[in-house]
Amino acid sequence: GQAASPGGGTPASADTILLGQVGALTGGQATFGISTRNGIELALKEANAAGGVNGKKLAIRVYDNQSKPEEAAQAATRLITQDKVVLILGDVASSNSLAMAEKAQAAGVPMITPSSTNTTVTEKGDYIFRVCFIDPFQGFVMAKFAREDLKLGKVAVLQDNKSAYSIDLSGVFTRKFTEMGGKIATTESYSQGDTDYRAQLTAIKKTQPDGIYVPGYYSEVGVIARQAREVGLKVPLMGGDGWDSEKLFELGGSAISGSYFSNHYSPDNPDPRVQKFIADYKAAYGGVPDALAALGYDAARVAIEALKRAKDLSGPSVRDAIAQTKDFPGVAGTVTLDEKRNAVKSAVVLKVGDGKTQYVTTINP
Ligand code: PHE
Repeated sequence: GQAASPGGGTPASADTILLGQVGALTGGQATFGISTRNGIELALKEANAAGGVNGKKLAIRVYDNQSKPEEAAQAATRLITQDKVVLILGDVASSNSLAMAEKAQAAGVPMITPSSTNTTVTEKGDYIFRVCFIDPFQGFVMAKFAREDLKLGKVAVLQDNKSAYSIDLSGVFTRKFTEMGGKIATTESYSQGDTDYRAQLTAIKKTQPDGIYVPGYYSEVGVIARQAREVGLKVPLMGGDGWDSEKLFELGGSAISGSYFSNHYSPDNPDPRVQKFIADYKAAYGGVPDALAALGYDAARVAIEALKRAKDLSGPSVRDAIAQTKDFPGVAGTVTLDEKRNAVKSAVVLKVGDGKTQYVTTINP
């Protein structure tokens, strides 16, 4: 584990409010946790510089889940029983958040996932929130883009059978794309951590699709793109937010260039609030913030605003305050939480270029 206390102060002292984060800091989703941690840390620093919450400073304890659901569950339990945090932020990958949500809900400790999009995460109970959209919308976004913008007729799907996120997104895309008059050529699958996808890609090639939908995470998608080109598949690849990592360019190289994915935010957004966030983030961490950093920042700020409004710092009071979040101006869109504790927001479609993404379009719910 790793403790950090932005702005100084000792965690869990009388004049400090301790928050917790569980994130993937190592393993196949490492950039997710690191970006999220940076975004959260920036929000906490700003809040502390502005006086904290009702005179108390904010601190955070961060645990690594090594990109594994079992570790995520254990880390959540540690935050709850040992550190006695007032709320938990995290995780990114839905399978990890599902494991954490079990624990948070059972203990009555509020949890906000910045970026897990699988519908069932917030269905774990009334203590579980998210500040991002959900996959039934995200799947619709890419189906609509594939049909109306790329004008594709027949698409193959390649899903990660170890990820709740990937399985569900694949299902939604299939349903929506078919409803819009498209055809699914075939659905193939892999397991997170695999390195050879040639058998599935060869099977896909035989169906002669116009495009391939790969709703996975960047570690696998980058390699899949290279192998797709190797077996002679030249059609565009499409995906979801799980592609969002600077590592995607490194792993995929020119093979991933020209592909499209849906996401929560684009650094090209000219909104001055977004550009200020990008400038502050760059000054602190060196790179352009990805969607995880933006959503981590938003989740932390939603949490801090709720702590300011809460009657006291007990689980039920903090829960009630979070549930009332309305029209919160985030850098990855405005957050209003609905009765299912989800945020209803627009999505952007990004095109993968040489070492960076390019904004293509915004699709509204
Ligand atoms: N939405 C993904 C999931 O639920 C996580 C993710 C969000 C990854 C945003 C990258 C960017 O598993």
